[in-house]
Amino acid sequence: MLRRLFLWLYAATYDVFNGPAERAGLREQRHDLLAQATGDTIEIGAGTGLNLTHYPPAVTRLALIEPDAYMSRRLRRRAAQLGRDAEILDATADQLPFPDASFDTAVVSFTLCSVPDEQAALSEITRVLAPGGLLLFFEHVRSADPRIAAKQDKIPFPYPLIGCHPNRDTLREIQASPLAVESVRTGELPKAPKIERTMIVGAARKPATA
Ligand SMILES: C[S@@+](CC[C@H](N)C(=O)[O-])C[C@H]1O[C@@H](n2cnc3c(N)ncnc32)[C@H](O)[C@@H]1O
Repeated sequence: MLRRLFLWLYAATYDVFNGPAERAGLREQRHDLLAQATGDTIEIGAGTGLNLTHYPPAVTRLALIEPDAYMSRRLRRRAAQLGRDAEILDATADQLPFPDASFDTAVVSFTLCSVPDEQAALSEITRVLAPGGLLLFFEHVRSADPRIAAKQDKIPFPYPLIGCHPNRDTLREIQASPLAVESVRTGELPKAPKIERTMIVGAARKPATA
């Protein structure tokens, strides 16, 4: 009951709490990354839909995966308000309800910190990508500063309630997956607390022969 209340609150306040970061440059970074999306595209953990305005016209089909009902309600509302044609599905990253090789582009933004098993999610993303397809990622990750990493390892409140692991080395996980990292930049999430400030932005490709 308490967790449900918290998840409702998290979804209801998500855009407000993210507002300072979005206005301080995150919005532009989303835009620049998603400019690479083309063709049939799947976003996993779409949240309230903060990426929706950034998909370029080259995206011909948009499937949005969101397992949280409170987030999903807001996602549907935003897509409708924007007139954005999108399939919105209740599913999880480790079980995507699509046949193999369905998509040209996959997107995760601040989602791999939340999935129970990053390799299971990356394996499923690889499966639904067509050979040569691209994963665009935007994630907050483990800090290189041992003092901050030690704090991240404690996973303090409220991260456990929202299932977020701020201590993950997500770049290493992507490198260990079947995807080949094509570009990556490490930076700082603007206006974020130190525990979730380190971020990676980049693209990884499914081999054309896979
Ligand atoms: C921090 S939010 C990010 C939302 C959005 N992508 C953004 O950039 O603002 C993480 C999202 O991942 C979703 N999520 C959590 N576990 C998931 C899973 N196993 N599979 C797919 N999405 C998941 C959450 O419901 C939430 O909407």
